Amino acid sequence: MTEPKNTERDPAEGFSADWLRLREPLDLAARSEALAQGFKSALKPREGQALRLIDLAAGAGANFRALAPLLQADQEWLLVDHDPLLLQAQREEISNWARQHGWRCVDEGGVLSIEAGNARWQVRGQQLDLARDLERIDLPWCDGLVTTAFLDLVSSAWLDRLCALLAAVPRPLLATLSVDGRRTWHPALAADEFIGEAFVAHQAGDKGFGESLGGQAAASLAEKLGAHAYRVSVQPSDWRIGAAHGEMLLTMAREAATVALEVNPSREASVSAWQAERSAQAARGDLSLVVGHLDLLGVPV
Ligand SMILES: C[S@@+](CC[C@H](N)C(=O)[O-])C[C@H]1O[C@@H](n2cnc3c(N)ncnc32)[C@H](O)[C@@H]1O
Repeated sequence: MTEPKNTERDPAEGFSADWLRLREPLDLAARSEALAQGFKSALKPREGQALRLIDLAAGAGANFRALAPLLQADQEWLLVDHDPLLLQAQREEISNWARQHGWRCVDEGGVLSIEAGNARWQVRGQQLDLARDLERIDLPWCDGLVTTAFLDLVSSAWLDRLCALLAAVPRPLLATLSVDGRRTWHPALAADEFIGEAFVAHQAGDKGFGESLGGQAAASLAEKLGAHAYRVSVQPSDWRIGAAHGEMLLTMAREAATVALEVNPSREASVSAWQAERSAQAARGDLSLVVGHLDLLGVPV
């Protein structure tokens, strides 16, 4: 399938920092608090050391911003991504976020050092193509592995590689916000069904890791990790996008229409009518959308 151009991702340009900024408040509201607390309890810091965490496909650092205040303790983070623009954005977004919270943040030779009350957090980026070089992540260095909004991009074979690493070097894993394929618009329109089906087909396209798991990612990882002596818990973390997030609703409608047209070019008239109706509803504050996501916690037993 040809990759459609959309706001979320242009195959030539990767994910935009604007898109990641738009989704961050929805992600924050959707995350499972229970699984995040379970992850915190499962971490076993080394004597006298800061907690060490690796974030796979960290983008502009949203996972760090969500988890560091919850983990509270001194922490060292390695934020891995292949996109140099997002690695640059990490430093800007994290510095701005720290300053907004009134925390001192200094860049010490590429390592951000944040003083947040009694805790000190150090953050550095690492450029790595996780499709090719997953095995180069320094798993023994860290106490826990996290990833967010990423696993739906990867293939079943890539998850096997990740699970083989986690079997060899057991570490708690918190994998948040994998889409699960559900999208429910309110109010419903007749065209929702074929537009939704086109989106699910698009999610199964190759995002650089082979055929993506899309909505099957969390279930697949749960099964594979369970076979490697991990206790796995899965919780819903759905986006509930209402009138307060008008720009996101317009973005999601535009993106769904673009994908639907790529998959069904002959249905241009219905897709255009659908998008126009959704835009009008969003402008009136009458539109909402639930996007199904799942959070997964794996703890070695
Ligand atoms: C939907 S974004 C999520 C980013 C971030 N975790 C967040 O929640 O804001 C997916 C991320 O996967 C990264 N990514 C995609 N393919 C990758 C690869 N082959 N190696 C490393 N990172 C990759 C993208 O650069 C992007 O940052």
